[in-house]
Amino acid sequence: MSVRVIRTKDELRAALRPRRAAGETIGLVPTMGYLHDGHLALIRAARERCDVVVMSLFVNPTQFREGEDLESYPRDEARDVELAEGAGADFVYAPSVEEVYPEGFATWVEVGGGLTDVLCGDPGRRGPEHFRGVTTVVAKLFNTVDPDVSFFGQKDAQQAIVIQRMARDLDFRTEIVTVPTVREPDGLAMSSRNTYLSPADRERAPALYRALSAAREAVEGGAGLDAALADARRVLAEAGIEPEYLEARYADDLTPAAAFDGGRPVLVAVAARVGAARLIDNVVLGPPPGAGTPAE
Ligand code: PAF
Repeated sequence: MSVRVIRTKDELRAALRPRRAAGETIGLVPTMGYLHDGHLALIRAARERCDVVVMSLFVNPTQFREGEDLESYPRDEARDVELAEGAGADFVYAPSVEEVYPEGFATWVEVGGGLTDVLCGDPGRRGPEHFRGVTTVVAKLFNTVDPDVSFFGQKDAQQAIVIQRMARDLDFRTEIVTVPTVREPDGLAMSSRNTYLSPADRERAPALYRALSAAREAVEGGAGLDAALADARRVLAEAGIEPEYLEARYADDLTPAAAFDGGRPVLVAVAARVGAARLIDNVVLGPPPGAGTPAE
């Protein structure tokens, strides 16, 4: 069956109703388009788990700050639809801004608990408003699609954690699945924003993952988190990259991690501007050998 492009909530609900009534399970893959292999991995994971796969394609204006790349964010719907179909999507939900945010829109979904004002949510960076935009649009998608399973990428680890918390706190019935980061052969995490990299910056960009890998190796060699972060910082400096942040935080609640406390997995997350692109990446580390079981 070929993919069907749908523009309105009513049309999408009408299309899904008989499928749900027939007992079929529905998978949701939210995206902002300009698909790469990371998105396709999400669609394929949904295809494996669910009878019906809905990919949303919407560049959500409320998660961009003034001065960010909303206008220049890459867009190519025809290409996205073709790629989504190839990866196994049944429906592409591509609403207009007015369909999602009608005149007078005034309701927001905000996750607290210290999850949205750290790392990318720090007010000096993208700010908690970024996550407020994400959770609001994702909550609306959950309400429209009512998915059994929803799929998000591990590259946006903080986003996945925030959405997990929202789904739990607001009793959305969907299961949230986090799919491993897909990387270029040189380790660079796939991202639609990689298109902003000049050839010279593209050469420097894999340093983010090299830095995270250095931290992982240090921990595996028995080093503490501070020493591991110092190693990572050195790798970034060698590539001339000054991180916006490079931090170790517990992966369950994003509080700062100074040590492996009771075997809790630690998220080592980095964000850095490399030329015109702001890139993020992360690894999840377990305690050093002999002190517990590695997390990833
Ligand atoms: O990860 C993204 O592409 C976006 O933040 C999402 C989840 C589609 C919400 O707009």
